[in-house]
Amino acid sequence: MRGGRVQVVDLHKSYGDVPAVRGVSVDIAEGEFFSLLGPSGCGKTTTLRMIAGFETPTSGEILIDGADVSRIPANDRPVNTVFQNYALFPFLSVEDNVAFGLRYQKVGKADAKRKVGEALEMVRMGQFAKRKPGQLSGGQQQRVALARAIVLSPRVLLLDEPLGALDAKLRKTLQIELKALQESLGITFIYVTHDQEEALTMSDRLAVMAGGLIEQVGTPAEVYDSPTTAYVADFLGSANILDVDVVGPAGHGRSTVRIGGQTLTCRGDVAAGTPVKLVIRPERLLLETTEEEEGTIDGVVARVVYQGPTTDILVTLSTGEELVVRRPSERAGQHSAGEKVTVHCRPEALQLLPPGALG
Ligand SMILES: Nc1ncnc2c1ncn2[C@@H]1O[C@H](COP(=O)(O)OP(=O)(O)OP(=O)(O)O)[C@@H](O)[C@H]1O
Ligand SMILES: [Mg+2]
Repeated sequence: MRGGRVQVVDLHKSYGDVPAVRGVSVDIAEGEFFSLLGPSGCGKTTTLRMIAGFETPTSGEILIDGADVSRIPANDRPVNTVFQNYALFPFLSVEDNVAFGLRYQKVGKADAKRKVGEALEMVRMGQFAKRKPGQLSGGQQQRVALARAIVLSPRVLLLDEPLGALDAKLRKTLQIELKALQESLGITFIYVTHDQEEALTMSDRLAVMAGGLIEQVGTPAEVYDSPTTAYVADFLGSANILDVDVVGPAGHGRSTVRIGGQTLTCRGDVAAGTPVKLVIRPERLLLETTEEEEGTIDGVVARVVYQGPTTDILVTLSTGEELVVRRPSERAGQHSAGEKVTVHCRPEALQLLPPGALG
């Protein structure tokens, strides 16, 4: 099985006066795990449904392996979809549910039986072949829905929040399984989620969407470490976002900025005097004393928020700005409100956004 390449060119979709998708373009490589990430209502499902063929674009093109599929009906596209609500047939057994996917294909009985068996083994559901969906847990039902989609050997698999209905622990397990399955099958996955951690864990690349548009496309590390907009920085995990003035260049793609009355070095090359936004990742700040003398700001602890594995320490700077410092709880120290602290800001923790990036 080989994955298909999916090219989406300037895709638009309006429902009456309501624009749902306002010009989406992406080029997804063969065998890539690509995610569409964004908040509720940003146009993820609409984009996916247009690729699947369930929705007609208002304008734009969809190419699969270079061929325009816009006028091809959904069931003739080399694409299959897995939805959030598994949509299994309650009166059919697990194996019959999976075999149902093959109904339109000219497959002999013995061949169908073998394919169904293989697909169920792939999702580790072989031993449940005779059960009805009602006798399975949510995670097991989700695996059956996946088997039903992969039994057809699609070039491209579209998944719309497939783990949305599962509890956090099972989600984590299935995320890892799903990624491993995708790698072994070599199918192109287009995966819709509003969960940033899920998208960062599973994807080769992802598109961060907002208001029917793509804000940024890149690998998880690219969009997390080098967001191009404040929106992306904020959506991908928590971020401190401050308005700062650039003092001057610091060489090697770095600049110096003023924060909390101090001059600090940060990543990003922006001309002096330009007002810009600075993204500070809370988990990259330190409160412990370090060897380094540079890059420190003094402040006062405003609040300590314990979160289990991590603890957030809210620090008010002398200039009135607030910074969140996130530490592993066992290394968060015993801080309390009113205590004077020094925040260590390594240049790696600070990323300037391009000038003009909107909040
Ligand atoms: N059939 C429809 N008729 C009218 N408006 C629609 C229709 N389908 C979607 N919309 C609107 O289009 C926008 C995008 O919807 P879409 O379902 O693509 O969002 P989404 O990103 O999948 O959100 P969620 O995370 O909540 O599933 C929303 O504002 C929605 O209200
Ligand atoms: Mg949706």
